[in-house]
Formats: sequence, structure tokens, C-alpha cells
Amino acid sequence: MSVKINGTMTLADVVKEYPQTIPYLNELHLDYCCGGHSPISTTVRENNLDEAELLGKLNELAEKAPQNKNSAEDIERFEKLSVNEMLDDLEETHHVTDRRLMKDAEDSLNKILIAHYPHHGEMLTELHHKFALLKADLEEHFAKEERYTFPIMRANPEPDAEQVQLVKDLEDEHTAAGDVIKEIQELTENFTLPADACPTFAHTYAVLQDLFNDIFIHIFKENSVTFPEYYEKASNAGACSVR
Ligand SMILES: [Fe+2]
Ligand SMILES: [Fe+2]
Repeated sequence: MSVKINGTMTLADVVKEYPQTIPYLNELHLDYCCGGHSPISTTVRENNLDEAELLGKLNELAEKAPQNKNSAEDIERFEKLSVNEMLDDLEETHHVTDRRLMKDAEDSLNKILIAHYPHHGEMLTELHHKFALLKADLEEHFAKEERYTFPIMRANPEPDAEQVQLVKDLEDEHTAAGDVIKEIQELTENFTLPADACPTFAHTYAVLQDLFNDIFIHIFKENSVTFPEYYEKASNAGACSVR
């Protein structure tokens, strides 16, 4: 097996090249989108993981054909688009999917909050509250992208420093959303169902997981594909060094 992935690469680089690694990274709850810009060696230290084992597994997956062909093909397809086409695509795919999943999760979460309040009231209240915060943040973020920042990007294919900063503000909002997602993962012990969970409880957790997995790909595409390509086109190169 030839080694392709090493400790100096970031998880965002890995996913860009080998999207088939996404399910494995999700399993380990490793962030490849919002905070995926540290070298793997640093990420490994922070998460108390074995670097050799992680790199071994990532390289093994990199050798294989993608298992989940759909998401790997989707990312490959996305990377070939122009910046403007990417912006249209993000709005037509992830913005629609994430809004639908958030609505479903909100309804189900309210149902289980009522039904399971006697035994799980404390945890479900906290979950309900954190999710409401995340949903509000993301709805406002999507509206800002669709009605403000993306139109500015389309109208200014060679951005100045101010326009670059507007896009960087979106990255900060992604980080904030990623932090709330991590809190929800911790609170639910990575969506471990209690013994007395009903089918609606299971459905709620499944929808939240689907939602988060889609958000991770959504943010990865924006932070690691679309925005860097846009920054590269900046008319004043000195004003746009990517963080
Ligand atoms: Fe977006
Ligand atoms: Fe975004």
C-alpha cells in the first residue's frame, strides 16, 4: 500500500482528495469541515488518538474505491464547477436538504420532549434548546448567504479585501454552528438511544444525524472548495491570505 496521507496534511485536504474517508471520520467524530484545518498530527493529539492507526486506516480507505459512491461523486462533481455554479448548487442542494431536515427534527424533538419528559426531561430540554439555537443560527446564515453574500460574490468575481472579509465572516459562522453540533453530540452521547426510547425518539436521533452529516459536507464544500477558489481570484492578493 503506498502512503498518500501523512500527519502534515489536514483532514480537509484528505476529504478533498479522498471523499470516501468521510463515513470513517464521522464515526470517529473528527471535524473535517469547520475546524478541519489543523495538521492531522495536531488533531490526533487533541483527540487522544493513535496517529499511526488513523493514518493507516485513512490510507487504506484512500486506496479503495469509494464505498458511498454518491457522496464521493457528488464532491468530485462539485469541485469541477465554477464559483458561480457552486453557489447555485449549494443553494439548490444543501440549503434545501438542511431546511427540510431541520423542520423534521424540530417537530420530532418537540414530540419526544413532551412524551419522555418524565424520565428524560433534563437532557431533552437541553437538547431542544441547543437545537433551537442551531436552527435559528443556520436559518439566518442561509438567508444571509442567499440574499446578501452570495449575490455579492457573483457580482464581484475578483473580490477586494472587504468582499473577502464578508466571506470569511461566513466561515466564522460555520465554526459557531460546528461548536453547537459538537455540544449536541456530547449531550446525546453521540446519539445513543436510552433503553426506553420509542420509535419517534429513534427517528429524531436519525434525522439529527442525517442533518449533521449533510451540514458537514455542506460546510466542507464552502470552506474548503468554494471559498478558497474565490479568495484566489482576489484582485489584491495581499489582502486575501486564507486562514
Ligand atoms: Fe451554505
Ligand atoms: Fe455557509
